[in-house]
Amino acid sequence: MLAPAARLAAKRLLEVRHIFRRPLPHQAVGSSTSRSFSTALNYHLDSPDNNPNIPWDFTDANKERVKEILSHYPSNYKQSAVIPLLDLAQQQHGGWLTVSAMNTVAKIIEVAPIRVYEVATFYSMFNRTKVGKYHLLVCGTTPCMIRGSREIEEALLKHLGVKRNEVTKDGLFSVGEMECMGSCVNAPMITVADYSKSSEGYTYNYYEDVTPKRVIEIVEMLRKGEAPPVGTQNPQRIMSGPEGGNTTLLGEPKPPPCRDLDAC
Ligand code: FES
Repeated sequence: MLAPAARLAAKRLLEVRHIFRRPLPHQAVGSSTSRSFSTALNYHLDSPDNNPNIPWDFTDANKERVKEILSHYPSNYKQSAVIPLLDLAQQQHGGWLTVSAMNTVAKIIEVAPIRVYEVATFYSMFNRTKVGKYHLLVCGTTPCMIRGSREIEEALLKHLGVKRNEVTKDGLFSVGEMECMGSCVNAPMITVADYSKSSEGYTYNYYEDVTPKRVIEIVEMLRKGEAPPVGTQNPQRIMSGPEGGNTTLLGEPKPPPCRDLDAC
């Protein structure tokens, strides 16, 4: 009885060791605890299109935005600007952060590069591998899951012919997962991060009350360069209001009985 269990445990141990396989110290970026094991985003390995020898800088227009962002922080707390600067770098670079882009941010805020890597690897909004021009993020947290987010993701992956975090051959789409995006009342929902127009035209839009059929329609509208209407996709709802109209608060609310304390 024990032998198969021991074999299985040894196999699992080998898999975990493989996941934690450390690259050479100068190549290592990131933590192995902040991402799920399945994403392969836990560490950085130099590659021809992502290594510290590739020069990277903000465009002239974005250098002005960098100055503006830094102006929000005291000069001795420049490091507080790490998230907006990484966000800007990601928008400029088509939706993902190279190690050179992170190094540039580190230089600007005058911290050791590891301080920037720590942030970029912790927050799932930062992508360290290529994404599609339209990066579709399916909310996978409980309310959206109960309302069918698994089916939404399956429909997207099947329609686009990719796995999660893969990019379609034409470079247009990728599908990722996010945790609760604060739109639970309109669950299930997806977000589309649009990197097709660089940082100047970047948008991050919510599409709510989606169905498997509706998300495919949204994808096809994006493919044609159209702008699907954002927000709820349920024509029976106004924003987050109940389907079919209000069921409570139908008249003018009565004022509180004792607003004028002297009269009470
Ligand atoms: S659970 Fe999906 S938006 Fe909150």
